Amino acid sequence: MKRRYARSHRWRQARSIDELAAMARQRLPAFAWEYVSAGAEDERTLVDNRRAFQRWQWRPRTLVDLSEIDSRATLLGRECAMPLAIAPTGYNGMLWRNADIALARAAWRHEVPFTLSTVSCDSIEAVAAAVPEARLWFQLYPLRDAEATRDLIERARAAGAEALVVTTDAVVLGRREWDSRSYLSPRRLTPGHTLDALLHPRWAAQALWPDGLPTLGNLLKYLPAGQHSAASAASYIGQQMASDLSWDTLAEIRRHWPGKLIVKGILDAEDARRCRRLGADGVVVTNHGGRQLDGSPASLDCLPAIVDAVGRDLEILLDSGIRRGSDIAKALALGAHGVLSGRATLYGLALGGENGATHALGLLHEQLHNTLALLGRPRLAQLDRDCLGPPLHLSRPAIGGTVPSSPAPPVPGDLP
Ligand code: FNR
Repeated sequence: MKRRYARSHRWRQARSIDELAAMARQRLPAFAWEYVSAGAEDERTLVDNRRAFQRWQWRPRTLVDLSEIDSRATLLGRECAMPLAIAPTGYNGMLWRNADIALARAAWRHEVPFTLSTVSCDSIEAVAAAVPEARLWFQLYPLRDAEATRDLIERARAAGAEALVVTTDAVVLGRREWDSRSYLSPRRLTPGHTLDALLHPRWAAQALWPDGLPTLGNLLKYLPAGQHSAASAASYIGQQMASDLSWDTLAEIRRHWPGKLIVKGILDAEDARRCRRLGADGVVVTNHGGRQLDGSPASLDCLPAIVDAVGRDLEILLDSGIRRGSDIAKALALGAHGVLSGRATLYGLALGGENGATHALGLLHEQLHNTLALLGRPRLAQLDRDCLGPPLHLSRPAIGGTVPSSPAPPVPGDLP
């Protein structure tokens, strides 16, 4: 019998994040699917983010007492159920009504931190009021308007955010061509995509009814009166991205923010050292999920050098490509303290809101436990480079007829 995944309404039966992704693709109109899943340009970095994990083989040990498997971790000095936080992602309201609150609840239920994006649909005040127990981190895009930036920082403090995550790699947006093909002008869907959206009534009823597309909740305060629509908010943020963002800006933010400061967008060891000198508490090693500079290396490939440079002094988080519990374990074996989940939890969210995101977190957690057991390292502290064999050579698919010099082993579950 042919192998196939269940239909999207059976998302509770999904056994893996790839299965949730396939189901989310069925449920969402193409423009929303492309917004979430697409990478920049030829999507080389997007694909490489997955291949980087597949290149590492495990070296399991046997006859180890597995009666207690412990995946509890400490992130930013506080305990959590596993070494993972939900990554900041903007405009989640395209997938589910009050999506940011749903994600924050899922994170709280699963005892992991949740990061709210500057360009979220639910405001930071709404999220903090709806899920007061959540471990809330706030992601900051520093704006050209310095007063608005300071106000966002102050609002994060007042809402009880324990960490400020300053994103440095999206000052200029990457060219997400598959995403932009859905539109005639930046905010007008092509007729084909409009028709496709109408053909997804279950998505429309959940995400759009009764108020239509949501706006960017955190930014409303800075928009002129009467111009609070999603389009006005998007055009505001487009003009406000601080293209002069620099180390001085970061130092200024450090002076204003008394809590934990994480710098997101680090791929280079010297940049990580500079974050340490500036007084940051941690870095996120990331290429923004392959959505920015296509051709930049997989985050995982950049991790060891950054761990060697600052691993003792800074909390090192990694994202881009986490789709399995074994990916989390590999990142930890290479020295990360934890990971962020971007699309993995968004696919769950798109299918079942809070419950769907919880299902995604549950899958990652179960898979992490299973990996620790099969690897013969029942505790996270036992994960180190000795757990991994030498990386396999996996060549990329040939471009322009180039033939790889040695045949590469097939990669299961490769992205198209
Ligand atoms: C993002 N990401 C992101 N990062 C950020 O700092 N602020 C943001 O507003 C967004 N928005 C956003 C939207 C969507 C739809 C995606 C998929 C991603 C990047 C995100 O935080 C994270 O770095 C990547 O998603 C990690 O890669 P994976 O887990 O999606 O492979």
